[in-house]
Amino acid sequence: MRPRTLALGAAGAVAGVAAWWRRNPSACPYSQRFWVEAPHPFITRARLREALEPRPGERMLEVGPGTGYYTLDVAEWIAPEGRLEIFDLQQEMLDHTLRRARERGIANVEASQGDARDLPYPDASFDAAYLVTVLGEIPDQDAALRELRRVLEPDGRLVVGELLGDPHYVVFGRLRERAAAAGLRFDRRVGGPLGYFARFAAAG
Ligand SMILES: C[S@@+](CC[C@H](N)C(=O)[O-])C[C@H]1O[C@@H](n2cnc3c(N)ncnc32)[C@H](O)[C@@H]1O
Repeated sequence: MRPRTLALGAAGAVAGVAAWWRRNPSACPYSQRFWVEAPHPFITRARLREALEPRPGERMLEVGPGTGYYTLDVAEWIAPEGRLEIFDLQQEMLDHTLRRARERGIANVEASQGDARDLPYPDASFDAAYLVTVLGEIPDQDAALRELRRVLEPDGRLVVGELLGDPHYVVFGRLRERAAAAGLRFDRRVGGPLGYFARFAAAG
């Protein structure tokens, strides 16, 4: 087979797999965690901090921490009184993140396992919540956004991070529409189309 034909075939296969993933949202399995352990260009921890503006003493929720790329830093930003609740579909991800937190001497992280479409927290439990490269993996994004809105304080804030190239990338414009329908008002955006953090305020 000629190299050009081979290259076109490979590109077509990659595009096909990406399209299938987009139509069939599912969680990145723990066995493929090397994807979430790699550096996160454009959606750096410093940019998350700029968008989230975490303050010591806050009650914070992270949905889909994976292996804790952001968790440890956020826990330290809100310490010593602040509490960070991590919530993930996969217990292995939670165990991995808790292990890393222990190794770093961090004691203000708690974990719960479940599906973001049905959060196990009372209304108005958190000052802020964030999720990074997670929303597109959830089969019903609208339900997850409604749940996030519900568990936020009336003046709470939500930050959603997305990275272009992720097969489950959520385009900013679509996110903004979905968030508005869930009662979340767009506040600000850090980063550009290659990778962004969008911040929303729980509207009234
Ligand atoms: C691509 S990883 C991102 C991990 C981390 N936020 C990061 O950026 O490194 C997505 C994470 O979201 C979790 N997840 C996917 N769908 C979920 C759902 N419906 N409810 C809760 N967690 C979910 C996965 O288990 C995984 O840990």
